[in-house]
Amino acid sequence: MRILVLGSGAREHAIITALLAENAGHEITAAPGNAGIAADVAVIQLDPTNSQVVSSFALDNDIELVVIGPEAPLVEGVADALRHRGIAVFGPGKAAAQLEGSKTFAKRIMDEAGVPTGRATRAGTLEDAIEAIDSYGAPYVVKADGLAAGKGVLVTVDRDAAVAHAEFYLHQGSILIEEFLDGQEVSLFLLSDGHSVLPLSPAQDYKRLSDNDEGPNTGGMGAYSPLPWLPDGFIDEVIESVALPTVRKLADEQTPFIGLLYCGLILTDAGVRVIEFNARFGDPETQVVLPRLVTPLSGLLFAAATGGLAALPRPEFSDDVAVTVVLASEGYPETPITGRRISGVDTALAIHGVTLAHAATALSDGEFVSTGGRVLSVVATGANFTEARSRAYLAL
Ligand code: AMP
Ligand code: GLY
Repeated sequence: MRILVLGSGAREHAIITALLAENAGHEITAAPGNAGIAADVAVIQLDPTNSQVVSSFALDNDIELVVIGPEAPLVEGVADALRHRGIAVFGPGKAAAQLEGSKTFAKRIMDEAGVPTGRATRAGTLEDAIEAIDSYGAPYVVKADGLAAGKGVLVTVDRDAAVAHAEFYLHQGSILIEEFLDGQEVSLFLLSDGHSVLPLSPAQDYKRLSDNDEGPNTGGMGAYSPLPWLPDGFIDEVIESVALPTVRKLADEQTPFIGLLYCGLILTDAGVRVIEFNARFGDPETQVVLPRLVTPLSGLLFAAATGGLAALPRPEFSDDVAVTVVLASEGYPETPITGRRISGVDTALAIHGVTLAHAATALSDGEFVSTGGRVLSVVATGANFTEARSRAYLAL
């Protein structure tokens, strides 16, 4: 199949690695990709958020499937433009992508579809925000309403910090104050064709910067899959109580969700609660979910893009486990230092079970250099977590 993958992160590299692992002779182009992706497939320098440019490229090159990696092209409506021109695309249109792009929209959909989530109050002024902060009490959860690259959420017991965060994001629009939910977090990805869903294997990511779950929130520093501690029936419960009601609600509103429904969940003592939806594969969870996928990824993505999921069985996963650790630049997440040389890539890749998913890398004089905060994900599989984790850290 001729496939165009939009994006330039480790998630997109992991998607491409999974497509290549099918050995099905796919012709893959990434736009814009990065140095690691360019070592594996063709890359084209175009703006993935520009609907016109992406559509023209897809038409001119007889692309049969477009896979949209990041959220920015989705909320810009790139999927709508492609579908309008008859191109199969894995990724929701602008309206359904509001599930990720607007937390207020997501809360409304959940409320109206009866999906379990925490209580939340939208605030447009500092006065309202402070009133909500005090009424929910500590720990405080303050969120920017729109996209904020993983930096919009603050969970803290420090009331002054909560108020300062509210004030900062109020300058950019409205904010949400939420009830604090206590429990283990789970990322469950579901393929959706607008009506039917199929689950992938669950993963857990580590959002805080430093070891022992300390430091500021980031886009994600590591992840593992599967989650052996999950209760029996967990996936079915999420399908019935979260994914299907959400997908049906969006279909009822004539904005079908076609793509990856990322359910960010917390297992509280009172049951499963949604903390957020994303409208795309998670990063870094994708790096640990896809290496375990046995069913060919291209068939799943194409079926989702073309309304064919109901005819397929659930995707199969290997019994291997996968662990990923993100190599980030000094200074991340505030002001990452860039331009550092990355050495030892071949040595790392020689370790059994290890792959690298590049994110912010470029080639300079034949060597990889860092160009941003999260530089690459070291991914390791193994028969158990001890083995996979030690391979990942050895490779790092
Ligand atoms: P989000 O960007 O909404 O995924 O939030 C980032 C992280 O903040 C989540 O992965 C959780 O660890 C934490 N978080 C968000 N909302 C809540 C909440 N209501 N209660 C507890 N923790 C939360
Ligand atoms: N791992 C969090 C995210 O992809 O949003």
